Amino acid sequence: MRIGVLTGGGDCPGLNAVIRAVVRTSEVRYGSAVVGFLDGWRGLLEDRRVHLAADDRNDRLLTKGGTILGTARTHPDQLRVGLDQIRQTLDDNGIDVLIPIGGEGTLTAATWLSNEGVPVVGVPKTIDNDIDCTDLTFGFDTALEVATGAIDRLHSTAESHQRVMLVEVMGRHAGWIALNSGIASGAHMVLIPEQPFDVEEVCRQVKRRFQRGEKHFICVVAEGAKPADDSAMSLREGGVDEFGHERFTGVAHQLAIEIENRINKEVRVTVLGHVQRGGTPTPFDRVLATRFGVNAADAAHNGDYGMMVSLRGEEIGLVPLAEATKQLKLVPESRYRDAAAFFG
Ligand code: F6P
Repeated sequence: MRIGVLTGGGDCPGLNAVIRAVVRTSEVRYGSAVVGFLDGWRGLLEDRRVHLAADDRNDRLLTKGGTILGTARTHPDQLRVGLDQIRQTLDDNGIDVLIPIGGEGTLTAATWLSNEGVPVVGVPKTIDNDIDCTDLTFGFDTALEVATGAIDRLHSTAESHQRVMLVEVMGRHAGWIALNSGIASGAHMVLIPEQPFDVEEVCRQVKRRFQRGEKHFICVVAEGAKPADDSAMSLREGGVDEFGHERFTGVAHQLAIEIENRINKEVRVTVLGHVQRGGTPTPFDRVLATRFGVNAADAAHNGDYGMMVSLRGEEIGLVPLAEATKQLKLVPESRYRDAAAFFG
């Protein structure tokens, strides 16, 4: 058999560990060859690829951040227009099954390709952890460790200066990184996209904490967090990018100004940004990515097309791509309430 593999969307720690596992399993367990397409779907549209072999170089991929195949976001329209070219590239390279590794956009495209009759097995990735039908995606644990480590460090400087610190973390639609890093680092408030916030309530919590004689206040803010419609604050409009994604205008910086104006407290902002996505994966993510890769290669050889590998409890299984891409996995209110027990 010949297996094609690609990485799409934003990168994330653990992508190379999946590639390594797909190559190793396909070659050693099944005697199959693996072709890596470069820069996401573009590699298929432009027939740009590399042969991947289970050698020493492949083995060193386990700990390497980013993706050796490169990645890109591709507009769904470009894929629709390019379907014939995609089929041609797969034919020309003798690819029997394609394994796209990606987040919401890449897996939605994979679902569509599968509906068009292309044999596909999906692998979910994203630091945001917002893919449905899997308990976790690799990359999330690494991002969580980076965010938690950063917030741990902010406590002492915030306390020394008696400041309010706002830490903006990634999380476009889902607040998993904010929620868990907030709980893990003992933050005093967490704002997530799923629970629109009231600026007055944020200020109340800050005031209450300082009135109790405490010396600092740390609030973790997901980049996608928004004030409630009836809140006395609104965010600057950023419009949308070429993929239809909302352009963020910096919620933490805007909230900082509101807090300073309202309660005259010194506020500092730290935006962690892409630091959360870079570097080597944690041991947990290395293991999860490896297990996803092995199981994706098995699924490809077993003919389990149109499926996505998924973690349920301790077990790796398969779920239909169509199910997994129906909706995002958002933070339920009950989980937010757990974090809220420590607010203020
Ligand atoms: O991968 C998801 C994500 O990390 C989001 O949290 C974030 O909004 C986005 O990617 C950033 O993407 P880019 O790398 O295109 O700036």
